[in-house]
Amino acid sequence: MKDNRFTVTAALPYANGPLHLGHVAGVYLPADIFVRFKRMIKEDVLFVCGSDEHGAAITLRAKKEGITPQEIVDKYHNIIKQAFSDFDITFDIYSRTSNEIHHKTAQDYFTTLNDKKSFIQKTTEQYYDAEFNQFLADRYITGQCPNCANENAYGDQCEKCGSALSPTDLINPISTLSGNTPVLKETTHWFLPMEKHEDWLREWIKEGKLDGVQQHDPKLWRNQVNGQCMSWIDGGLHPRAMTRDLDWGVKVPVEGADGKVLYVWLDAPIGYISMTKEWAQQQNKNWEDYWTGDRKLVHFIGKDNIVFHAIIFPILLKEHGGLVLPDNVPAYEFLNLEGNKFSTSKNWAVWLHEFIADHPTKIDELKYVLTAIAPESKDAEFTWKEFQDRINNELADIVGNFVNRAVILTHKYYDANVPAKGKLTELDEDVLKQLADFPQRIADLISKYKIREAQAEAINVARLGNKYLAETEPWKISKDQSEEAQDRVRTIMNFALQITANLTLVLAPFLPKKAQLIRDFLNIEELDWSLAGTATILEDNHKINPEKPSILIEKIEDEFVTKEVEKLKASVKEIVEVKTDPQKELVSFDDFTKMDIRVGEILTAEKVKKADKLLKLTVDTGLDKRTIVSGIAEHFTPEEVIGKRVSVLLNLAPRKIRGVESQGMILMAENTEGKLSFVEPAEGFNAGSEIR
Ligand code: MF3
Ligand code: ZN
Repeated sequence: MKDNRFTVTAALPYANGPLHLGHVAGVYLPADIFVRFKRMIKEDVLFVCGSDEHGAAITLRAKKEGITPQEIVDKYHNIIKQAFSDFDITFDIYSRTSNEIHHKTAQDYFTTLNDKKSFIQKTTEQYYDAEFNQFLADRYITGQCPNCANENAYGDQCEKCGSALSPTDLINPISTLSGNTPVLKETTHWFLPMEKHEDWLREWIKEGKLDGVQQHDPKLWRNQVNGQCMSWIDGGLHPRAMTRDLDWGVKVPVEGADGKVLYVWLDAPIGYISMTKEWAQQQNKNWEDYWTGDRKLVHFIGKDNIVFHAIIFPILLKEHGGLVLPDNVPAYEFLNLEGNKFSTSKNWAVWLHEFIADHPTKIDELKYVLTAIAPESKDAEFTWKEFQDRINNELADIVGNFVNRAVILTHKYYDANVPAKGKLTELDEDVLKQLADFPQRIADLISKYKIREAQAEAINVARLGNKYLAETEPWKISKDQSEEAQDRVRTIMNFALQITANLTLVLAPFLPKKAQLIRDFLNIEELDWSLAGTATILEDNHKINPEKPSILIEKIEDEFVTKEVEKLKASVKEIVEVKTDPQKELVSFDDFTKMDIRVGEILTAEKVKKADKLLKLTVDTGLDKRTIVSGIAEHFTPEEVIGKRVSVLLNLAPRKIRGVESQGMILMAENTEGKLSFVEPAEGFNAGSEIR
């Protein structure tokens, strides 16, 4: 087995949108806690992350926002980077895959593998959008999933059942660019023949062995990770294309490969290496030290990233040679929000940067709740009510209350000096023993990636203190002036303060700001982890901060919850992409000019008998006054429409509707909820104005 030297990565977030709480709870926060703890116990750890700036996730977003991919990644890289920094995520480096050093590293990596014949080149027929002159890979193509019949599966993955797909697997494929059915066209790509790697992968994942040599403890890998990998391998691996016909990404470093870039899932994980290089250059270190030998490589990811980190990237690492394979791939399930999935397109999300802007003093409170509900083994849910409950009933009532009592009583009884212990009782001895157990327990849990339980143990230290004070009741004993009673109070208070000092250690990885605040109350510097579990941290007569302590944890009012829930609900957008019909067939300009559309003014309106939906209108078209029957009676009363200036298609061939001849059509806008609106011109555009 390897030493405890770690290279820790957190999945590179796509720079196509801001971070929401789901991302934070299920990757970045636990990774940060893990790293902070390892640093505290003086294990060597490097923590690497950066923005993932390539792939269809970026180019499609750019298209949607109507700006260039470069503008998209610049915009979101900065928002994401700032949010991480404000949230105190302690990456050693947060870089980006658009950097030159990354392009060069990824290209060199590709070349190394290409020279070693790790890839095969194949010419196959791929879907192509003739209108946009583009091959359709990944998210550029949707269709029905062959496994679960989800209608909106992507060309690389079905998000409903999680299966990995190729565009040619999709039933009824449609181009997301034009909405057209794509055609097949030949193209040549580099493929990774994954099927060649099945045997060693099986042994490596099941037993943690490579060529018979133990690499990692497979029991420490989460079930979900083992399960997904084995089902992939057992289902049979296939060649997977490692290049794409796109103009955004890392260019394929082979002559004659113009217009081709590396597959984003090839270039992005190599980002972990290029970012290590970038950091090492700044620090005058060798990047190889972090990727070779006995180093443990740990990838914190979301569950949709499992196959890429536990199968594809390991194949690429092994093919390269000389580099370590991951020691663990702690993957997180998904976090839901108030009963629904987080959705960027629907804007059903709590955005990290917005939370920070709205509640800059509640950063550790948020960390606490997100860790307490972290989706480690199953999907979890964030609600503002639970946010309130956990902060009020756990953080404030347990931690806040204990620390406050210990500090305030020390001010009151001893003028802010730490009193000396006297004779210990059985209860004291028992508390000492319990206290001594915590550090190892927390360390073990963190080593097993059970961050959530580790935090609960840290809170238990405050629970222990609370219980101790509740049982010993120093405020009652202190009224007794006897030397024996006063000695007892001094012992109790010394214990309470030592436990408080312990809290600054055990809380530090989880709630670094609160740990600092408690250190301020106690007037101490950052402590060494070797002191954790002891009751001799504060010396007798040490002067704690004599100022009245500020409130460690402020309670969350009901109003806070109501406001946040309302804000969330108010910001929801209906998904337009799903409900909007794709663009219709092209029409020629000549066809278009045949239509005579003008502004008309509605003069009279009445219901059509025995037809709930129809209004019979008289419309002044500027040319004449004519009758038009319109299917808007369920949306508008006759009174509402009289006097309106609307858009009218004049030269639609007359039709008889319910016995009334309709000479034209009123144009209406319809939104995704099926509501109708007239298409009205501005003031001054009277009946007869032409619309072209
Ligand atoms: N951008 C990907 C996602 O958000 C994760 C990339 S992780 C890396 O799902 F390994 F490829 F870098
Ligand atoms: Zn599916």
